[in-house]
Amino acid sequence: MSHSSPPAPMSSSPGGPLRGRVRVPGDKSISHRALIVGCLSIGETRVENLLEGEDVLRTADAVRALGGKVVREGEGSWRVVGVGIGGLGQPEGVLDFGNAGTGSRLMMGVAGSHPITATFDGDASLRKRPMRRILDPLMRMGTVVLDEAPGGRVPLTLQGPRETIPIAYETPAPSAQIKSAVLLAGLNSPGVTSVFEREATRDHTERMLAHAGAQIRVEIEGAGRRISLQGQPELRARDIVVPADPSSAAFPLVAALIVPGSRVTIEGMMMNPLRTGLLTTLLEMGAQIELRNRRDLGGEEVADLDIVAGPLEGVEVPPERAPAMIDEYPVLAVAAAFARGETRMRGLSELRVKESDRLAAVAAGLAATGVPHRVEGDDLIVEGLVGKVPGGGPVAAEMDHRIAMAFLVMGLAARDGVRVDDGTMIATSFPDFLPLLRSLGGSFEA
Ligand code: S3P
Repeated sequence: MSHSSPPAPMSSSPGGPLRGRVRVPGDKSISHRALIVGCLSIGETRVENLLEGEDVLRTADAVRALGGKVVREGEGSWRVVGVGIGGLGQPEGVLDFGNAGTGSRLMMGVAGSHPITATFDGDASLRKRPMRRILDPLMRMGTVVLDEAPGGRVPLTLQGPRETIPIAYETPAPSAQIKSAVLLAGLNSPGVTSVFEREATRDHTERMLAHAGAQIRVEIEGAGRRISLQGQPELRARDIVVPADPSSAAFPLVAALIVPGSRVTIEGMMMNPLRTGLLTTLLEMGAQIELRNRRDLGGEEVADLDIVAGPLEGVEVPPERAPAMIDEYPVLAVAAAFARGETRMRGLSELRVKESDRLAAVAAGLAATGVPHRVEGDDLIVEGLVGKVPGGGPVAAEMDHRIAMAFLVMGLAARDGVRVDDGTMIATSFPDFLPLLRSLGGSFEA
């Protein structure tokens, strides 16, 4: 898959109920961080259940270009030999992150805090995404932006300082990527770097740095958090087991709820409370989901989900829940289309700067599939059709994996099925999406 590969139209159609047990791939956020923190640790980090999606493979390439050793030992089983903080080498050539916002932004923090010059680029989707939010704090830490595309976008070139300046930073938007870029840059500075976020966002960077022996303190302040990190620690290589990605589990989860007669179990889904907003919302909508076998897996709680199809009720999703389900709104919009009554999703401004303008892409997809909806400011309102969604298409995926997967899920229960113009980007986060849903009985053409 690359930005030059031809589009791959895909379609899904309604059939019998979905049945079976599935395990979704490793979490994308944790997979990127496992490779990055492994690179900054001394010694050998073994990673199990790494997500082998295109986005994460780009981060593996970037780690190699900066001097780390990354070896695939078997399915999901990887080994990283780190260079340690301060030990990155000058990369040859451009660091091409493809479609990956997380990999590129986190690595800007890493490379931009070392005395090297690194050029970042990506596909047409990444080239549209705002990078000022990362460059602004990095410039305060001493990074020089040698070159950038108009509006602070990739391709851009960073030169890190001899000595990175520790800063106290308040993130301008609830974004784990901004927070993480600053903290990762702070690792190579001689003092305490702190980040304040008004609303708590996913905390995988903080957890993993603590796991590797960094001195990191997290204080809860209202709905927000202040994270303080002592710079220049010696990170120790520690083994990492990547739990199943709730953002990928979201697709079979919603499919099982909307395809009549379905009964599906999803095994070992990560239950980090900063990632379970979709689960909370679906339970409020009346979904039959039972959580079983809650247990610890490498420092994260996981659980098995037993899902039974049934009626859903429209709800109001409060804006403060957005960080805990930011990637799940496209598939929630699909669940809402099958519900009874109106679902109002509030405070979605950050959706506009994802792999696509996701608010616009979801609205266009709903229009193409006959689902009444409206966008009011940053809110999306979907009128539920009580199971009777017309479907059709084609839905424009806009180089966005989650738009493609959400609407393919819709087609499993929509009268006419759903056609999506291009499913190539699914490989960035969930390469086995089609085989996994087919194993449950889903019907797709690709
Ligand atoms: C991610 C953070 C979120 C999310 C993305 C992964 C991360 O982005 O949408 O898919 O791993 O830190 P923002 O930080 O821009 O909200």
